[in-house]
Amino acid sequence: MTATRRSMAGDNRVASVLARRYRQVRALSLSLAERLSDADATAQSMPDASPVKWHLAHTTWFFETFVLRDHLPGYALFDERWHFLFNSYYEAEGARHARPHRGLLTRPSLGEIRTYRGSVDEAMLIAMPILAETCADLIELGLAHEQQHQELLLTDLKHLLSCNPLGPAPCGNRRAACRLRLRQ
Ligand SMILES: [Fe+2]
Repeated sequence: MTATRRSMAGDNRVASVLARRYRQVRALSLSLAERLSDADATAQSMPDASPVKWHLAHTTWFFETFVLRDHLPGYALFDERWHFLFNSYYEAEGARHARPHRGLLTRPSLGEIRTYRGSVDEAMLIAMPILAETCADLIELGLAHEQQHQELLLTDLKHLLSCNPLGPAPCGNRRAACRLRLRQ
């Protein structure tokens, strides 16, 4: 095998490992919200917390903005208006929606956010062989960022549900399955 071929095989391996990890981390975020209604995912219990829907969108915004927009020529944003909604504190990215008001975002719906995630994931995975070569570290950073938000999502969700006298569980009647998944 020539050095060039060996190098190409190595690049493919990096891309495939990164793609597998990307799928796993992204799927876990969705599974945390699997049993939630649009209302569950929209409400915000206090100014310091964020709605589940916002966490799901913001982590997607990270990949769309810093990977696809900046490193994939010709990529078109899913919805240009959402840049303002889902930026958190990235000053260089301009104005953003105030955190205490995130719970007022009844639109886009949870369903639309899931579609947004699906669209960005599709673009990421199709382009992964190119992206793994040019910005593997950035993708790893995005995955660590998403894992941090998974913890925040659960913390915020548990506080929100604790405010409900009916005492709903974050994972419905599949609480045990949820615990198991989180341990992985
Ligand atoms: Fe963030």
